[in-house]
Amino acid sequence: MCGIVGFVQQKNVADNFPLEVCLHGLKRLEYRGYDSAGVALAGSAGFATDAQLENTIAIPGFKTQVRKKAGRLDNLEEEIRQHPTLPASVAIAHTRWATHGKPNDINAHPHVSNDNRIALIHNGIIENANSLRDELESEGINFSSSTDTEVAAHLLRRELGRIEAESAAEAKYTCDLTEAMRRIAVLFSGTFTLLAIDALNPEVVVGARHDSPLVVGVGDGMNFLGSDVAAFIEYTNQAIALGQDQIVTITPESIDIIDFDGVPQIGEKFEVNWDAALASKGGYRTFMEKEIREEPRAIADTLLGRIDPSTKRLKLDEMNVDEETFAQNMRKIDKIIIVACGTASYAGFVTKYAIEHWCRIPVEVELAHEFRYRDPIVNAKSLVISISQSGETMDTIMAVRHAKEQGAQTISICNSQGAALPRESDATLYTHAGPEVAVASTKAFVAQITASYIIGLYLASIRGNMYNDEVQNVLDELDEIPEKVQMLVDQFDSITRLADYYSDVESVLFLGRHVGYPVALEGALKLKELAYIHAEGFAAGELKHGPIALIQEDLPVFVILPPLDRPELHSKVISNIQEVKARGARVFAIAEEGDTTAIEHADIVFKRPKCPSLLAPLLDVVPLQIFAYALATAKGLDVDQPRNLAKSVTVE
Ligand code: G6P
Repeated sequence: MCGIVGFVQQKNVADNFPLEVCLHGLKRLEYRGYDSAGVALAGSAGFATDAQLENTIAIPGFKTQVRKKAGRLDNLEEEIRQHPTLPASVAIAHTRWATHGKPNDINAHPHVSNDNRIALIHNGIIENANSLRDELESEGINFSSSTDTEVAAHLLRRELGRIEAESAAEAKYTCDLTEAMRRIAVLFSGTFTLLAIDALNPEVVVGARHDSPLVVGVGDGMNFLGSDVAAFIEYTNQAIALGQDQIVTITPESIDIIDFDGVPQIGEKFEVNWDAALASKGGYRTFMEKEIREEPRAIADTLLGRIDPSTKRLKLDEMNVDEETFAQNMRKIDKIIIVACGTASYAGFVTKYAIEHWCRIPVEVELAHEFRYRDPIVNAKSLVISISQSGETMDTIMAVRHAKEQGAQTISICNSQGAALPRESDATLYTHAGPEVAVASTKAFVAQITASYIIGLYLASIRGNMYNDEVQNVLDELDEIPEKVQMLVDQFDSITRLADYYSDVESVLFLGRHVGYPVALEGALKLKELAYIHAEGFAAGELKHGPIALIQEDLPVFVILPPLDRPELHSKVISNIQEVKARGARVFAIAEEGDTTAIEHADIVFKRPKCPSLLAPLLDVVPLQIFAYALATAKGLDVDQPRNLAKSVTVE
């Protein structure tokens, strides 16, 4: 949801670097929300001297400088051009996906205390904000916005005042933003990442996190905070992951972490394996075009290094339990449940077919938000596989927590280092898709299927369902996939021309059978997300049970045809094509090279290179993604940031 940046550097009065870091960070995090953007800076003009700090509790005139604006980041940049900020040493910045309060200037973050000394930003929802607001108002605090966040800004200021009064009574000055943050963090119910700065102590940024993301970037004479590593990727690749319920205090030279009880904690250091170039458009018009074109590489990188050359065993990345114990547990499981949301759930749905086939274990696929509340049957013999690009989708995290409480084994498939999901799972396999910035997921989808297949093969090999050479055969076939995906990506321009022609359509249907069915669902989702038109995916076999009533003259229907080596499926889908054609539909088929029946019956055929049916989704989805992308572009829509959406849905 919202994107958060924090930065501190050594005092450098003539430097606008903190503002630059914030704006660059927001640019990279804008995919998390784009209802408004804002920045707060302190330092330089706001610096108090040591003598002042020693003698005073509140110095009039030392204020945070806040600039914020509704709408995209461009609006904030224009605001700053018109009202430039002074040099600073600390800064926080925020890009908003509105929950409480309309997306206007006033509700934009940062929010400040009544004396403007404290500025604070927030990602999440403070559920008990109303009662806290009543309490603060009864004490004479004035509120200017209708957000839950403003409560935190005023509470932090109140707490800071109390701490200062306590220390003043002891005749010593203190400015303990960390302790104030700790005291207010325990008051909140809900989810939050909070970052705050204090104009009187512009050498410190304090963050708190509870069920919302926050990562530390480690610099030289400077340190960073961000919702994810993209926030600071162009300045450092050294990072620290924080645990739940922790407070972090960064100064130019130090990073201190405590828990909500004040007990010191050690963060988990890691090196970010993305570089800034990967997180930029790299000459493409949009991130999405770039990310679709990166799909061959996303699959190849996700496959890379997964086999231990000595043992020929597949390797998982992060193991939070002993590897041998984990493998033993995997031999005992009798059911797999895949939990995910959105596109990731369709990647899971594709995987079900392969894992059941390879491992002979029942696989259920469940939307993470439905899983927890239906009292699912999960126990120590269940394996719950979570799939998430961001690793921060709150519903998915909650589903994994619920599964663990029931004693289940858990594996996560995740694309973002430092995210919560890997930390909460017994084992993790990272998809090496690189940063995905466009809000609607594309390259992460194919990487997620690839990673799920690796897990399926791992299970099949350690449970003895497949011999090593059978596993190797599938891996060899997977190795050929990137090149075949490239052949589809190479059709980008021709698919774009076709989509241009259909830019006025109001409805599109997608049909698929077997693994083609979840691909049809994903094709429809992409079109809805990007082009805002009615689109539905159906199991082709279901056509006659209702959807056929929707068919009318010239309605575009995409049909995913199974490979020719599955004649029992292929012939049935050809019948479906004939049924919709007979009622006037225009059929766009995705079919294997050499599929002459498809050419005979469909209006347009996108040719898919030959591959085994279980791997075909990795290819079939590509023309659907490009079509949705191109249709949205033809309609003049913003494909990277579609309306109302956010890339990481960090609230339930
Ligand atoms: C949001 C995004 C989707 C994504 C889904 C799950 O809805 O807009 O593109 O598929 O979240 O995200 P995750 O990070 O868990 O894969």
